[in-house]
Amino acid sequence: MRIDPINTTFAGEVSGIDITRPISDAEVAFIEAGMARHAVLVFHDQALTDDAQRDFSRRFGPLEAASGGHVTTAADRRLPVDMQDASNLDQHQRPLARDDRRRMFNLGNRLWHSDSSYRPVTARYSLLSGRIVVNDGGRTEFADMRAAYDALDDATKTEIEDLVCEHSLMFSRGALGFTELTEAERAMFEPVRHRLVRTHPVSGRKSLFLSAHAGTIVGWPVPEARAFLRDLNEHATQRRFVYSHAWKPNDFVIWDNRATMHRVTRFDESQIRDMRRTTVAGIAA
Ligand SMILES: [Fe+2]
Repeated sequence: MRIDPINTTFAGEVSGIDITRPISDAEVAFIEAGMARHAVLVFHDQALTDDAQRDFSRRFGPLEAASGGHVTTAADRRLPVDMQDASNLDQHQRPLARDDRRRMFNLGNRLWHSDSSYRPVTARYSLLSGRIVVNDGGRTEFADMRAAYDALDDATKTEIEDLVCEHSLMFSRGALGFTELTEAERAMFEPVRHRLVRTHPVSGRKSLFLSAHAGTIVGWPVPEARAFLRDLNEHATQRRFVYSHAWKPNDFVIWDNRATMHRVTRFDESQIRDMRRTTVAGIAA
């Protein structure tokens, strides 16, 4: 098993392992170490079933349940509750209609974000399996929030060191004009607070904990906070900090939400794009 760096600062391509079968403790440790270093790992030719994906993912910790993170009702779910549906499909495997509420909500994934930053306990790893991929667009792009932090000037680093942001799905969806939420959804999407600068527990590196879900900075006027967060996002998503993944069938990608942001790029949504995510929950800060 080996990891070849993809970009100068982060992302690695893994070869020499079959993750569709049970993996050893040594392989788990190798992947953990690779994640601490590269933050994004790409595996090819992994024809996973849902069960195999969940079994592999659980080797890195308990899985996060999908509840509370979307507007899809239980009856409309396509996947088990401990998998997140990153496809453009309904429960009958058909592409969602253009004006389908679930599709409009999912368009929030086109904005740079960290998965589950709107939860009190944010996500550790996200693990995404490309079951049916599209040839044109539909990439997943990653930005290295450690390199982005390192590149800030000292005055900015000092200014942001102790800032706390509020994150909510209402902020990321509101940014795209998706504001029609039920009372129950508003209650479910109540903002949570996270530090803007985080230190990674394994690598010890500091990173910017940015996300489209971040909408305010505690103690700041809202427009000033949003303008500053935009500046930071613009800085952090410069192409020099970005790896853009073009999917091949049965690619499998793991990313560390504590060290990266990501987004999906536009694609022809009349095509089927079946992507299934498992998420390893973080540890309460
Ligand atoms: Fe995401």
